[in-house]
Amino acid sequence: MFINECLNIKNGHLNIGGVDTLDLAAEFGTPIYVMDEQTIRKNCRVYTEAVKKYAPNSGMVLFASKALSFKGIYKIVAEENLGSDIVSSGELYTAISAGFPIERAYFHGNNKTYSDIKFGIDNKIGCFVVDNMEELDAINQIAAKKQKILLRITPGIDAHTHKAVRTGNVDSKFGTPIATGQAIEIAKYALSLPNIELAGLHCHIGSQILEYEPFILAADIMTRFIAEIKKITGYEIRELNLGGGYGVRYIEEHIGIDFDTCIKIMCDTVVKNCKENDLQIPYLIFEPGRSIVANAGITLYTIGSVKEITGFKNYVSVDGGMPDNPRYALYGSVYEAEVCGRADEPKNFECTLAGRCCESGDFIAENIKVQSCRCGDILAVLTTGAYNYSMASNYNRIPRPPIIMIKDGKPYIAVERESFEDLIKNDK
Ligand code: LLP
Repeated sequence: MFINECLNIKNGHLNIGGVDTLDLAAEFGTPIYVMDEQTIRKNCRVYTEAVKKYAPNSGMVLFASKALSFKGIYKIVAEENLGSDIVSSGELYTAISAGFPIERAYFHGNNKTYSDIKFGIDNKIGCFVVDNMEELDAINQIAAKKQKILLRITPGIDAHTHKAVRTGNVDSKFGTPIATGQAIEIAKYALSLPNIELAGLHCHIGSQILEYEPFILAADIMTRFIAEIKKITGYEIRELNLGGGYGVRYIEEHIGIDFDTCIKIMCDTVVKNCKENDLQIPYLIFEPGRSIVANAGITLYTIGSVKEITGFKNYVSVDGGMPDNPRYALYGSVYEAEVCGRADEPKNFECTLAGRCCESGDFIAENIKVQSCRCGDILAVLTTGAYNYSMASNYNRIPRPPIIMIKDGKPYIAVERESFEDLIKNDK
């Protein structure tokens, strides 16, 4: 019935992880993010098991924590034996505070500051994924001994996804392109620096990709580039990180990709190319973010008004909006939603889900169908586990909602709701 396994209906009410969403709203208030821990763990295992099966020379899964960053999530993914992709000192600090094994953290980003690099090195970060020459120089200068790095390479792939989340094309702010000849130059430069240990290469071609071909292409191009580096410099790359981007089903019409299959075909491509080019099979890394957490989460809101504009459209306004979920405003994202107390009724009411901000583009979804609803009803927006909490803001000075985790059929508070005090704590 639902595209997300952790959801079902009991006595007409939407349940998540076996807990009634109306009870959750009554106990914790709204808006709230609710996440099913079991689903997160299951998603982690799909990837760790795939890597075990298909990466002949071993490998690792990194959780791209930009999708969801708070202390508890680093604990969960560490217990599931994942590493983590972190992209700022703030994410690194959160991971450290959670006791995350920092040797399994990879520091990303196209413009790490001097203090980011210093913070990473001081905390013994496992690896930097280096974007550019300036960063190589900075790491070489700050590190007192050899620092492990990967080079972020742009393979030149135009993945069919929203342009704001497309990153593998030549004309990208991320990485160094192969096509222009600059990637081989940065590899040679990395090899020449005394405090740089060039362990491998990285690429990430985009996000929310729902096809296999771009991933195969990325694996193919990157292994060929490893062969080129070997041919030109004699140096053999031993680690290849093929990024994340595995798309999830937000709505019924999305045809999802199977993550196990996706990892398999990428590994197979690497193995085939390595054989052809007489290369050792590298240690393979994958870094999913969205597909680890998106389908584990929902957001619960209380409906304030149902406005039927005669001859035009219907607006259902909720007590959250773009501050807790900016994805419609940024990408025109699509979602499914349920009226929690009438989840077994037909969805006959077409409406636009509007937020509470002073901004006419503050929508969560446009023209979607929900059950008939009225003021006071609890509404769930589904598949909000990724890039919602992590992208939330305090626009209009609205406190961020808490994260309530469900574990073994019981809710616990993983992140507290922000208070008004929190909002003013840095104000002088
Ligand atoms: N690795 C790197 C280097 C990345 O930049 C990203 C995502 C990932 C891995 C994880 O990609 P995923 O598996 O989550 O697709 N805010 C946007 C998504 C931005 C993705 C940024 N990079 C959204 O809400 O759709």
